[in-house]
Amino acid sequence: MKFIIAIIQPHKLDEVREALGEIGIQGMTTTEVRGFGRQKGHQEIYRGSEYTINYVPKIKLEIAVPDDLAERAGEVIREKARTGNIGDGKIFVFNLESAVRVRTGESGPEAL
Ligand SMILES: Nc1ncnc2c1ncn2[C@@H]1O[C@H](COP(=O)(O)OP(=O)(O)OP(=O)(O)O)[C@@H](O)[C@H]1O
Ligand SMILES: [Mg+2]
Repeated sequence: MKFIIAIIQPHKLDEVREALGEIGIQGMTTTEVRGFGRQKGHQEIYRGSEYTINYVPKIKLEIAVPDDLAERAGEVIREKARTGNIGDGKIFVFNLESAVRVRTGESGPEAL
């Protein structure tokens, strides 16, 4: 199993969620977050000799997926979250050791 954390633009959430549903992703967690990337949240305006770092609102997606869906899920997020402008986000993929469905006690990919 893999665990995907993706940071995306808030207005892309619905499109990404719908496309992930279409490939068989059954659950995800979303959180409103704030962050910055290479542009430090703005277009590098100097204030004296200092940068001001602005935190820009983003959505964090957390998705546990079976191995056979991981690559496709990453591609779908990349395609659907992309506008081509700066700030489109990042996708991080981790190995996931275990997962348990609390109600039934199922574990592993069946729990996802
Ligand atoms: N190295 C990082 N570690 C953790 N989170 C990051 C990292 N880089 C970016 N993020 C998160 O992703 C969001 C979007 O980043 P962003 O797309 O601006 O990255 P970038 O590297 O600056 O790319 P671009 O040049 O396309 O803007 C940030 O607001 C932050 O929440
Ligand atoms: Mg950026």
